[in-house]
Amino acid sequence: MQEKELYGMRRDYSPKPLYVEDLNNDPFLLFEKWFKEALELENGEANAMVLSTVGNDMMPSSRMVLLKKYSDSGFVFFTNYKSHKGRQLEENNRAALLFFWPDSMRQVRIEGNVRKISSAESDEYFESRPRESRASSALSKQSEPLQERESFDSEIRNLSENNREIKRPGHWGGYVAEPVLFEFWQGGIKRSHDRFRYTKRGAEWKIVRLYP
Ligand SMILES: Cc1cc2nc3c(=O)[nH]c(=O)nc-3n(C[C@H](O)[C@H](O)[C@H](O)COP(=O)(O)O)c2cc1C
Repeated sequence: MQEKELYGMRRDYSPKPLYVEDLNNDPFLLFEKWFKEALELENGEANAMVLSTVGNDMMPSSRMVLLKKYSDSGFVFFTNYKSHKGRQLEENNRAALLFFWPDSMRQVRIEGNVRKISSAESDEYFESRPRESRASSALSKQSEPLQERESFDSEIRNLSENNREIKRPGHWGGYVAEPVLFEFWQGGIKRSHDRFRYTKRGAEWKIVRLYP
């Protein structure tokens, strides 16, 4: 694609601005409102979010994960604890999450500290997953080189098609990201976007409007 075509590509945002009066003192409640609206409006997966992590080598790494649970204690996702992200989180538990809801012209940034959830909570979600997904998570050495796709597929088939119980392996489970910062971005007319940042001050959240 030619550079000039990309130069000219922009979408005109014309949604309702985000007014100070629309804000909630509690960012979790504003997140919940936006998330529910995204579930109705978005054509894509509204619970897909970018997770960015940085390990000891200081090289940031981003990838999509699915939000599977949220509450005022944080945002939960599931993965392989030995994956690249798992190793980075072991070295440095600070991470960023990003939701992009293009049909709502909204973005939510979250920064915080990540920890593993309890085994019981991980078991509960693991057991709710379809058998094939459980087999795949149990067998995947996520982020390691895979020599033969076909043999991995047949291992998954063998495990999911027999009647043995598929237990959650210890290297697979959930993390919760506990936010210390939120930023709500609402795309506006003629680039007059609205941004509000919430930062945690003890039990309170301080709200600041930012230049777009
Ligand atoms: C929409 C979408 C959702 C995804 N959800 C997850 C997820 O919930 N958990 C997960 O481990 N990987 C998920 N992935 C795959 C990751 O993006 C990534 O490829 C994988 O976790 C390995 O990342 P890592 O090598 O940085 O650890 C998803 C990918 C996409 C495109």
